[in-house]
Amino acid sequence: MRLYPNIIGHRGAGRLAPENTLAAMRVAARYGIEMVEYDVALSRDGIPILLHDQNIARTSTGSGNADDMTLAELARFDFGSWHSSEYAGEPIATLYSIAAFTRQNNIRSNIEIKPQPGREALTGKVVASTAALLWQNAPSPVLSSFSEIALEAAMASAPELPRALLLEGPLNPDWQERADTLGCVALHLQQEHIDRATIKVVRDKGYRIAAWTVNDVARARELLRWGCDGLFTDAIHALPPALRLL
Ligand code: G3P
Ligand code: MG
Repeated sequence: MRLYPNIIGHRGAGRLAPENTLAAMRVAARYGIEMVEYDVALSRDGIPILLHDQNIARTSTGSGNADDMTLAELARFDFGSWHSSEYAGEPIATLYSIAAFTRQNNIRSNIEIKPQPGREALTGKVVASTAALLWQNAPSPVLSSFSEIALEAAMASAPELPRALLLEGPLNPDWQERADTLGCVALHLQQEHIDRATIKVVRDKGYRIAAWTVNDVARARELLRWGCDGLFTDAIHALPPALRLL
């Protein structure tokens, strides 16, 4: 099985549903999405939760940093109504509920380890060891992070799970050394900084490459034609299903 399908739902279902929630995974399933990307941090009491920002204000009815709140405290807030009334009452998602849903629906996962500042090693360790338990006897999730400390901790606690180095901006000359040190099998690069030559260099050295975040059909086609292995997209409703087969 390829490490990535062509199309990967960003934060679940892009902008169609509240990001990083179980509702988003349900929407992705309805669109036939084969793999979803989502961001995972830790609550104060060390539970892996889905969250992009450090502060919960943008995506919930609460406010404050997630690492100051226990799961029980986070569970009091609504993580859906900021998006639309249709999703009012949507609770914070944990890695446990998302593992159960995605596995039951044969959707693969890219877990982006998104540590709150200062908790990089702990988050990498807890997310990787939890994922190793939850995805036993299933296609492995890909663990990715901008944090090399988190990836290092993930490698130490669950070396068998594939890892990808997330990079922002142009590819620096030291990328291969960094990816090798962390035992990464892939790079997740910002799509604005990917051209045909970049894809060739990365793939010729034996790494997979996935691009974030591609919402334009022509650009998606181009990147796939150049050999990009997968695209993270918010536009799961706009990218034609035929792209999945390229
Ligand atoms: O994992 C790809 C992409 O999600 C990285 O950026 O900020 O959307 O988590 P961000
Ligand atoms: Mg992300």
